[in-house]
Amino acid sequence: MELQRIGPTPLEGSRIVFGCMTLSEDTREAITAIQTALDQGINVFDHADIYGRGQREATFSAIWDALPGLRDKIVIQSKCGIRFRGTPDPSSPGRYDFSREHIVESVEGSLRRLKTDYLDILLLHRPDPLVEPAEVAEAFTTLKQSGKVRYFGVSNHSGPQIDLLRRTLPDPLIANQMELNLLHNHLVNAGVSVNQDNLTWPVRGEGTLEYCRLHDITLQAWSPLARGHLSGNLPANADDRTVRAAEAVAQMAAAKGVSREAIVLAWLLRHPARMQAVIGTTNRERIKACCQATEVQLSREEWYTLFIAGRGGPLP
Ligand SMILES: NC(=O)c1ccc[n+]([C@@H]2O[C@H](COP(=O)([O-])OP(=O)(O)OC[C@H]3O[C@@H](n4cnc5c(N)ncnc54)[C@H](OP(=O)(O)O)[C@@H]3O)[C@@H](O)[C@H]2O)c1
Repeated sequence: MELQRIGPTPLEGSRIVFGCMTLSEDTREAITAIQTALDQGINVFDHADIYGRGQREATFSAIWDALPGLRDKIVIQSKCGIRFRGTPDPSSPGRYDFSREHIVESVEGSLRRLKTDYLDILLLHRPDPLVEPAEVAEAFTTLKQSGKVRYFGVSNHSGPQIDLLRRTLPDPLIANQMELNLLHNHLVNAGVSVNQDNLTWPVRGEGTLEYCRLHDITLQAWSPLARGHLSGNLPANADDRTVRAAEAVAQMAAAKGVSREAIVLAWLLRHPARMQAVIGTTNRERIKACCQATEVQLSREEWYTLFIAGRGGPLP
């Protein structure tokens, strides 16, 4: 497994990250999946306080007994800032909360459930329109000084939203986790759609990818497998674009003698932004299939062939 630096930190993280959102509630199954990831060289594990309402972090903590001495060899990141409907009051809506109090409490909950003293990385999960950067700065300072969090980042944030935070935060933001895959390719497609009429596909997130490259913020692609739609899990009602992209992936995988998952992920890893791919599969064979991606070399022509199939039409 190839490693890469995460942002400007000394952290050496695997290019494939193991996402824990759908980790099994069954401890034995969960440990098997985590162990498979570790055996493949994955050393970064992605959590959020809300995954399974905290259950995923709690289940993950069984790994410490199974593999003593592991903690300092892996990178654990979690996220905060999303609050469920009905908490604390029955009438409270589902919402985002970047208040100092919520950020600190959320991290303390994650640490308790994960049975660890520190998070390597904390991400703010989704932009909170009511964010007060000074409050976030206070929370981050408290967490850093107490040794509870080493580094900070964001998720689902645009460049200007990151700028707003960076102006006040004492430390750099080192990662931005965004949905990105061959089908959900807005961040890449926006770059080739600048100043174009008659777009067949909406442009979203313009400039985010370039912003992250400019500021040494590692992009972490979530749902990088497009939930398997291009690698064996084609929906019954798939549109033409998805069907053609799945065919392009299958052809290239056959030609190269690798898994379809490896091709889908290699498309992300080939991008010069040096992204990480946060996979969500907990299936042993699929985890292994994903990890072949770092061995795949895509030529410029192969990368564009996949991109054109994924965007559903030729370039401008
Ligand atoms: N920051 C955010 O806002 C955000 C949002 C969502 C997720 N995430 C992170 O990103 C990670 C990955 O997200 P994701 O799960 O949506 O990504 P994904 O890796 O694109 O999809 C994984 C899902 O697709 C299924 N799948 C894949 N290939 C399949 C196949 N051939 N046949 C049947 N099922 C297949 C997997 O089931 P199996 O387990 O059976 O393989 C799993 O449920 C999460 O764990 C989480 O850590 C972050």
